[in-house]
Amino acid sequence: MKLFATSITAAAAALMFTSTFLVSPSDALSLTVRNDVPGNATSPIHYGLMYEDINRCGDSGIYGQMLRNWNFQADDAGAEPSVEFWSAVGDGATIEIDADNGLNDINSNSLRLEVSESSTGRAGVSNEGWWGVRVQPGETYQASFFAKADGYTGNLNVTLESTDGTVLASASTSESVSNEFQKFEVTLDSADVSDVSIDNSFVVSVDSAQAAGASIYFQVFTLFGETFEGRENGLRKDLADSMKALNPKFFRFPGGNNLEGQYIDQRWKWNETVGPLEERIGRMGDWSYWNTNGQGLLDYMYMCEDFEMEPIVDVYAGYSLQGDSVPEDELGPFVQEALNELEYLTGSTETTYGALRASHGREEPFQVNYIQIGNEDWFSDTYDYRYRAYYDAISEKYPDAKIIATADQESRPWDIFDDHYYYNITEMIDVFSKYDNYDRNGTYIFIGEYGTHINGCCDGSPTNLEAGIGDAIFLTGMERNADIVIMVAYAPLLKREGQEQWNPDMIHFDTEKAWFTPSYYVFQEWSKSHADTILQVDHTDGEFGPLYWVAGSNKEKNQVYIKVANIGDTEQSVKINLQSLAVNTEGTARIITGDSPDLENTKESTVVKTEESTFTLNSESDFEYTFAALSATVLILDIQQ
Ligand code: AHR
Repeated sequence: MKLFATSITAAAAALMFTSTFLVSPSDALSLTVRNDVPGNATSPIHYGLMYEDINRCGDSGIYGQMLRNWNFQADDAGAEPSVEFWSAVGDGATIEIDADNGLNDINSNSLRLEVSESSTGRAGVSNEGWWGVRVQPGETYQASFFAKADGYTGNLNVTLESTDGTVLASASTSESVSNEFQKFEVTLDSADVSDVSIDNSFVVSVDSAQAAGASIYFQVFTLFGETFEGRENGLRKDLADSMKALNPKFFRFPGGNNLEGQYIDQRWKWNETVGPLEERIGRMGDWSYWNTNGQGLLDYMYMCEDFEMEPIVDVYAGYSLQGDSVPEDELGPFVQEALNELEYLTGSTETTYGALRASHGREEPFQVNYIQIGNEDWFSDTYDYRYRAYYDAISEKYPDAKIIATADQESRPWDIFDDHYYYNITEMIDVFSKYDNYDRNGTYIFIGEYGTHINGCCDGSPTNLEAGIGDAIFLTGMERNADIVIMVAYAPLLKREGQEQWNPDMIHFDTEKAWFTPSYYVFQEWSKSHADTILQVDHTDGEFGPLYWVAGSNKEKNQVYIKVANIGDTEQSVKINLQSLAVNTEGTARIITGDSPDLENTKESTVVKTEESTFTLNSESDFEYTFAALSATVLILDIQQ
């Protein structure tokens, strides 16, 4: 077998050589899983998701809108409104931004299509989508847009068509366009399509014989395929399915850095992300591309409901990434902005912002139990007064909510502290036992972001098998301390292939499909086998390294889980004894492994994924199991009734 230390840092290599070769290959380790002493209760929301629009995973990713530059507020770089990603269709058609024919104060311009007098055939506008428009056999698409015209009163034809001109789906508006803006909606059916394709565009056109000399104005286009749970303005279903399959129990949003803005005025402003799409205002995101806010606060809350995730609402806390802090005596309106956001989420319809929420279609208030104040505020030296101001205002109004701090400060207490780990293998191993002797003093830890960075943070590190095993060691350490480490999330969650600002990322996708990293499979297995109680494990012989383990039980499922990461390059045989536990003598093993640490999954090929097998125990409380080299394994045992 190939020695895997070649791709890692010298320090990590040294450590693994140590850990691999100091442990004799077999019979060295015996574990006793103790059900005869009380175990620690874990958090029911231990594994969850951290989400922000990074790596183009919001617009162009999980947000199901398939059209790009759909409201002409700004170009991709956040500068001038432009017609980028649109083109004119037909020999006598031209397009440009029209600043005099806006839809409303927010979308104060439009896309103008000019149909020349000499135009023949059709004339129209075409959008190239986000690196293409995916059309799938049997999928139904909902399209909408606002339009008005001078010199034309007929219908508008909507088509999805391939770049060679083949029409894949088509519909016509049932109403005629007039000289006042009105909203048009059509359904497009790809029933006749037999293959998935992405080299397509979205076209709205007219017969130029009838529209010669006309000007047609468009604003706020949408195109959605199948969305998760059929939500309007919802999530791209395949990506949402892949997130749901992680069994997440909480959802931290909307950042991350993308909450903060590079400058104070570029912060994520909740009120610009709610209401009808035509009333939403985009912003320059932190990750160097325009954010449309088509997916906003209410959409995130619906996502929490659909996935059954606890919302972790991260509020802007007066600090932006270029280093600006809102001065203490100017913080008032910013704190009020956060209070308004929370009232929008939780207030009755008698309140100002609760009523606003109801006007957006959601009468019933949401329950918000966790509120995070800022993100990585250790970057600033002003968190003390900022945290105090937000803490006082929020905890007075929401005394039952758990407040999450992101940096150490001395002004006020916190319920939960958000720790982030973007570490290499050596550092991940160091962190494995970090919380073992932490004060159990009533405050808790939230791992709001983690990821194993083989070559160091925060780029140029692969999402390979070795990183997955590093994650498994880390998660195992957190789960051993799941009485105080109550939430854990990988970051970044998603990346559009080729458009990333950060590596590694957990889920990769393009316009056509999604594929998954070893880190994804590790997180999924650790999350799916949720223990409500951590069982003490005595290692009667041997030490941690190269094996790292945790054991737990789940009362409802009546199961015991033993999770083991092996970072060594040899298989390891372990004797396992169950104290005061009797289990069925056939167990299930769910294993993530491979014969090289460098293995990476690609769009074309999944070489590392979970494999399931069964194994036989010697007796109802005693067995020997051989953990594969470089593996992450969950052993699942059914407790005898
Ligand atoms: O996950 C990427 C970034 O890492 C987050 O936006 C930020 O919180 C952290 O520094």
